[in-house]
Parts: sequence; C-alpha cells; structure tokens
Amino acid sequence: MSKQTKKPWQGRFTESTNEFVEEFTASIKFDQTLAIYDIRCSLAHAEMLASEGIILKKEGSTIIKGLKGIEKDIKKGNLSWSLELEDIHMNIENELIRRIGEVGKKLHTGRSRNDQVATDLRLYLRDITDQITHYLKHLQKALLELAEKETFTIFPGFTHLQVAQPISFAHHMMAWFEMIDRDIDRFNDYRKRLNVLPLGSAALAGTSYKINRAQVASILGFDSVSKNSMDAVSDRDFAIEFCSNSSLLIMHLSRWAEELILWSTPQYDFISLPDSFCTGSSIMPQKKNPDVPELVRGKTGRVYGSLFNLLTLMKAQPLAYNKDNQEDKEPVFDTANTIKDCLKAFILLVPEISVNREKMATAATQGFSTATDLADYLVKKGIAFRDSHETVGKIVQHAIQSNCLLSEIKLEVFQSFSKLIDNDIYEILSLEGSLNSRTSYGGTSPSNIEIAIKEAKQRLFNVSL
Ligand code: ARG
Repeated sequence: MSKQTKKPWQGRFTESTNEFVEEFTASIKFDQTLAIYDIRCSLAHAEMLASEGIILKKEGSTIIKGLKGIEKDIKKGNLSWSLELEDIHMNIENELIRRIGEVGKKLHTGRSRNDQVATDLRLYLRDITDQITHYLKHLQKALLELAEKETFTIFPGFTHLQVAQPISFAHHMMAWFEMIDRDIDRFNDYRKRLNVLPLGSAALAGTSYKINRAQVASILGFDSVSKNSMDAVSDRDFAIEFCSNSSLLIMHLSRWAEELILWSTPQYDFISLPDSFCTGSSIMPQKKNPDVPELVRGKTGRVYGSLFNLLTLMKAQPLAYNKDNQEDKEPVFDTANTIKDCLKAFILLVPEISVNREKMATAATQGFSTATDLADYLVKKGIAFRDSHETVGKIVQHAIQSNCLLSEIKLEVFQSFSKLIDNDIYEILSLEGSLNSRTSYGGTSPSNIEIAIKEAKQRLFNVSL
C-alpha cells in the first residue's frame, strides 16, 4: 500500500504520523489473527444497520457483499495488510471502501474500534475455548483407554516421592482424568461470562442511533448483551480468565510431564516413550531424551507469564478504553497456541506410552508399601489404630535390619510382635490383597476403578470423538 494511505482518523491532524510512532502504535502485525472475527462482527453490524433503517437496505447488501469478498480473499491469503492503517479494523474498513466505494464509509455508523476489538477478541476466544474443551475430551478418552488396559497393573503410589502404598496404574491415570475434568468444567463455566456482546457500546458511552443490540447478539451467537458501555469497552476480565484457566490447565499438564520424564528414566523404568517423540544427543550416542514432555513442562512459564502480563496490564487502567489494551492480544494468542499445541502433543503421546508392568510391580514391593495393611489387619483384630501403628513400626524396623520384605518375615517372628497375627497375614501383605481391599469410594481397588471408568465414560458420552 502506498505511503499516501489516508488514515480514517486523519481529519483533525495537521502533521503526518512519525514513522517510528506509526510502527510503535500499530497492531496489525499480530491482530490480523482477528481478521475473520472482525469480518463476522462487521457483517452482523451491517445487517442490523440495514434492518433498523439506519442505512438503506441496498447499502447494507452492498456492504455485506463487499465484506464477504474480503473474507474470501483473507481465507485464500490474498490480502496484504498495511502498517499505516494501524490495525485489523482499519485495514478491513479501508479495503471495503476501496472495493465498494463511498457506501463502505457507512459501515462504521454507531460503532467504534473499542467495542469492535472487544467483540472480535471474545469471538476469537469463544472458538479457542471450544477447541480446547474438545481437545481436553480427546485427552480424557486417551486416558480412559490406557486406564482400561491397566486396571490390574500394580503401581507404586508415592507420597513425598517415597513409595507409599500399592495402587493400580489405572488409578493414577484416572487421577489425571479428574484434573482434566475440572479444567473442562472451568472452561465451560468461563464460556458463559465470555459469551456477552460488547458491540453497540461504541467508544464508551453508547450511541444515539436506534441500534438493535439483541439482533447483533443473536446473529453472532452471543447469549446476552453487555449492560454498561464503559465496562464493555474496557473490560478484559475475559482475557485474564482465559489465561488463568490456561495456567491451571498447563500446571496439570506440567505435573504429568514431570512424571512421564521421571518414569522413563532408567532409574524408574516404568514406561517407555516412543522414539518418534524423543530426540537424541549430539554428543552422547546412547541418549534418548523425552523432549515432548520436557517442552510441555517448559512452556508452563510462558502461560503463567501471560496471566501476569494481563493482570499487570489492567491493574491501574482508568475507565474506559486505553491503548494499553492493545497489549492484550499477543499474550492471549500465545497462550491459545501454546495450550493447543501442548494438548495435541499429549493426545498423540498418551496412546503411545508403553507400560513396563513388571518394573512397576517390583517397585511397588519396595518401601514396605503394605505396612498400612498390616496395621489395619491388627485394628480389625481389635487393637486401636495408634497401638497397631506402633507395633507395625517395630516390625518395619526389624525388616530394615534383616534386609527383607514384610512378606518374607516368618510367622513366629510376626507373633513375637503380636500374638494376633496369623497365617492369613501373607494374603494381606500381598500387593493384590492390598489393592483389592481399598474399596472405599474413590479408592484404588480394581473393582472401584472399573466403576470409575464406566462413570467417566458416561460423562464423555455425548462427545463425538
Ligand atoms: N488496535 C486497537 C486495540 O487493539 C483497537 C482499538 C483502538 N481504539 C482506539 N481508540 N485507538 O486495542
């Protein structure tokens, strides 16, 4: 575009914009992401202006036809954007006027870039939110499939990263499933607050034209219209909340990533990740590095960073719109792309995890993981839990000194600690026995897990995957 491009707001200016300032204030480099949403917003606005008689029907159809032509070219990648026209809104409006002439100048009747940008960004985030919840459900499905295969796989449950009690590996997968379920819930709840139309607030005070905001809302699929024009043009809670939900989500992904990284080390050797998801070392020929989970863990920082970026962006802004708000886009776009990529990575990775059941079971025998079962056994024989805890502590001490597992202690030795211990103790001390006994609601027994998986499938029931 030529240097002489006329800026839509040029009227009151006597000097042209300083070249650096032009570059510094422009957002077109990044807000072109909103192009399609800006067109949708303008199409709805034009339709409303025409049906309310604010512009002629014929003018409305010419504008709509022009906008649709621009939309086609945007989708084909045939449009180039101009820095001088500052942002996506002025670029599209200018292109419309170039294509359809004078009548294009009527599109901006009764609106401002302030309510336009707030609307565009909400439309964009609504799509992203729907994509994210869709991905999350895919991920849940992958977890369920893994859990179904590994319901009877014994795994060491950890606390303080020390072996604590045997659990089913599926129980661990279902714990991840629950984290994701809360994320889905949060994004769904957020969508209600997001899906409110700001357009029609104009610059800050509303407009004197007899606009029909409900009509625009219905065309664009918004559930309601904003109630206060000042709030509507300046509010960025919806961008912050998106980053906040995303931060919680990536915190969950990062926790999984950390576990996957640990479990795939030779020290743990619980799982192996496919070669296609790992990379090698340029110097150490033997290395296979878990880059994908490492990157997911690493990307957590930029998502948290975006949340703090936006919170800080908003903290001292007086009402109503300020140019500061232009800074909201890059963190939002970056967060959206990062989250989508990380979810894609895990959706692809989870089905490829290969489980080393033997190593898991062996590790579950370590650390006297069935000591609690022994304590519970004594309680069921009539001893108070505190006393049985004390007795079992002594038995564990004996096992440490004799360098043996609890299940390797002879019955006479057990009985020297408590006469109540009988031959049936060996079943109690077995990993399977321990697992099967954990039948309290939400506990790890395989019978529970089967129900939990069934129930989880029902939650996903309506989803086309
Ligand atoms: N590019 C601007 C933004 O991203 C659009 C709104 C501009 N409004 C204004 N009064 N300068 O926020």
